[in-house]
Amino acid sequence: MIVKASTQEKITHAAIKLRGGELAAFPTETVYGLGADATNDSAVAKIFAIKGRPEFNPLITHVRSLEEAQHYGIFSKNALAIARRFWPGPLTLILNRKRGCPISWLTTAGLSTVALRVSDHPIANELIKLTGRPIAAPSANKSGRISPTRAEDVLNEFQNELGIILDGGDCRVGLESTVLDVSGANPTILRPGSITQIDIENNFGPIILANKMAKITAPGMLESHYAPNCKVRLNATCIQTGEVFLGFGKNSIVGSKNLSETAELNEAAANLFRMLRDLDQNNITGIAVAPIPEHGLGIAINDRLKRAAAPR
Ligand code: TXA
Ligand code: MG
Repeated sequence: MIVKASTQEKITHAAIKLRGGELAAFPTETVYGLGADATNDSAVAKIFAIKGRPEFNPLITHVRSLEEAQHYGIFSKNALAIARRFWPGPLTLILNRKRGCPISWLTTAGLSTVALRVSDHPIANELIKLTGRPIAAPSANKSGRISPTRAEDVLNEFQNELGIILDGGDCRVGLESTVLDVSGANPTILRPGSITQIDIENNFGPIILANKMAKITAPGMLESHYAPNCKVRLNATCIQTGEVFLGFGKNSIVGSKNLSETAELNEAAANLFRMLRDLDQNNITGIAVAPIPEHGLGIAINDRLKRAAAPR
């Protein structure tokens, strides 16, 4: 359902849904976002499910202010200056994740970095404020399709699969935000956008334009994704000496964890990165993972598990 977003009441309604773990689409200055509470694994799992993403890409988390962002990411002096210059606006910063950061590991696809952005769109900001949570939001389209820049585009993508679409008219920029990685020594543009290399260099000296996105979103993303320290063995039905078990459905083993006792793929996706981290302790030799059905979100889960189990 499209909701004209002019009133506070309607944005409040969307905020309540987001707090309850539901999805809501909303306008930003770049494109429409498909939002979920970034701290809620199962809410974020719904994003991947409804988009039909074949793998878990890390998502951008939308926050209200630079001050809030500093609770989640570690800002170098340079990163701070760049944020002060370009936020709010169509720039996403990749930062090292701060200790205690509440953003879900599914939002960041298990990476030790976070992607943060402060939008300049009044509806986006009001929604984040009223929700009182950071909001994970990829573009509000099915995987592999064009990003939506009008509420009607979002409706065409999802029809009645999506409860709430806040309508803010046409997006001003119409192109996704520039993604700038400031987590290392050399700031690098990972995705070009309306804030250009020259805009940034004029203020902050040389930066690198790397078309790394291919690497991150394609099979090469193997290296850049979190893999546990210990070995991962797939399609396991029992454990070997020194292993712990990550189950799915009814196959539980004492002391193990279960991605979803009721064999729900949404729940399994929501638990995946967190449970892998929890099981990955020094005193074990490996994690044996139960078979996961290869359909729906199971495809993304298996893709991620194969990467975790790949020879290193
Ligand atoms: O304009 C935009 O940025 C829109 C609106 C809704 O804000 N959002 C958007 O989100 O385009 P999404 O999730 O579709 O794009 C996220 C991009 C992906 O290309 C992803 O690979 C990259 O940001 N990204 C996210 N976290 C990352 C990380 N930790 N390291 C490297 N790249 C990251
Ligand atoms: Mg997109």
